[in-house]
Amino acid sequence: MSNIQHTLSIIKPDAVERNLQDQIKNEFKNHGFQILEEKKIHISKEEAERFYKIHESKPFYNDLCAYLSSGPIVVMKLQKDNAVIENRKLMGATNPKDAEEGTLRKKYGISIDKNSVHGSDSVENAKIELEFFFKN
Ligand code: CMP
Repeated sequence: MSNIQHTLSIIKPDAVERNLQDQIKNEFKNHGFQILEEKKIHISKEEAERFYKIHESKPFYNDLCAYLSSGPIVVMKLQKDNAVIENRKLMGATNPKDAEEGTLRKKYGISIDKNSVHGSDSVENAKIELEFFFKN
């Protein structure tokens, strides 16, 4: 039975800076994702703080928000059967050092902060995160 879902993907500043966005977008397409919407934006630190509010209490929160707002990013609305988990599989572990061969973070990530891509971690958060960037 099909279970079409939508999820948010962000190509982070380290990957945009290295001009990897087309390569990463092709990875999604080659793995059966449809990119329904996309835009290249440069968000403020305050917007990053709102986006990552879920991590507010973490010691890395400030650096994380400074980083996401440090340069242009590409945000995408992805669609696929079981998109949320499928995107997390394709991204690999948060820390590129721990990510499996073939995953995006293994291939492109530099460090736990500069890990090239973000993806929603649940169906519920995907709705919230998509609304954040693509509300009509
Ligand atoms: P992301 O999937 O965008 O979600 C939160 C981000 O925080 C994560 O990727 C990492 O880039 C970053 N981060 C930095 N330090 C840590 C840490 N110790 N544990 C988890 N995430 C971290």
